[in-house]
Amino acid sequence: MANQQPIGIFDSGIGGLTVAKAINELLPNEQLIYFGDTAHFPYGDKERKSIQHYGDKIAEFLLKNNCKSIVIACNTASSACYNTLRKSLPNNFPIYDVIHPVADYVAKNHRHSKIGIIATKGTTNSRAYPKLISEKAPNTQVKSCATPLLAPMIEEGFFNNNISKSIIKSYLTKKHIANINALILACTHYPIIEKEISNHYKSIDHDITIINSAKVVAQKVKSDLAKKDLLSSELVKNHEFFVSDYTKSFEQSSEIFFGKSVKLQKIQLWK
Ligand code: DGL
Repeated sequence: MANQQPIGIFDSGIGGLTVAKAINELLPNEQLIYFGDTAHFPYGDKERKSIQHYGDKIAEFLLKNNCKSIVIACNTASSACYNTLRKSLPNNFPIYDVIHPVADYVAKNHRHSKIGIIATKGTTNSRAYPKLISEKAPNTQVKSCATPLLAPMIEEGFFNNNISKSIIKSYLTKKHIANINALILACTHYPIIEKEISNHYKSIDHDITIINSAKVVAQKVKSDLAKKDLLSSELVKNHEFFVSDYTKSFEQSSEIFFGKSVKLQKIQLWK
């Protein structure tokens, strides 16, 4: 496998660009091919079977585009289709989800902690994070909280204002996630409101570690591809960003998630 081949990244929409951004910052030589399934967004409320079906098709597209590895940037898709995709690919093919690296990170750095997780309903209902964390760090207590309003709120540009402040507060003050020592941002969109979440805890004098899964995953991709000697030593071509449904507003919002302007190309994977 040539080191210059791209890294494929996919998500239910454009929110996964936060993961693409973190990978790009850590591995600037790598060419990225991003696919956002905007036609089926959001995955958070979809059936597991549908998400698996979408995931199979997207992985096929990324492989056809010569990707040397695949990153499932979406937490909901990670919980629904990582295991099936892992089984369908050759053993040595590098495929990453966002849940395993975060569970490993927690097991290494936050054993014996009380961990809170905020995510979509799909991710929360799958219990993928608590199951994996309790396997890897049995003495850790894990409390999950579905926060379904946050992704659409961010996508609609509601952040750093009084509306987002009040929605964040009403979720984070729920009793069952009180008294946690660390909080996992288990959704592609949440790095955008990381500062607001941190400000919420500061305002109530609650000392907490916030775990940004995009950064943890980028570290995992870097160390694993380095081990496999698959990193590119020279700057490759431009990144490519594909979506299954195009609107001007997707393109405008992409900049918020990727941190720089992005040219989206529409591609039809489903007839
Ligand atoms: N990308 C999804 C995730 O990380 C959030 C948006 C959606 O519901 O599709 O879970």
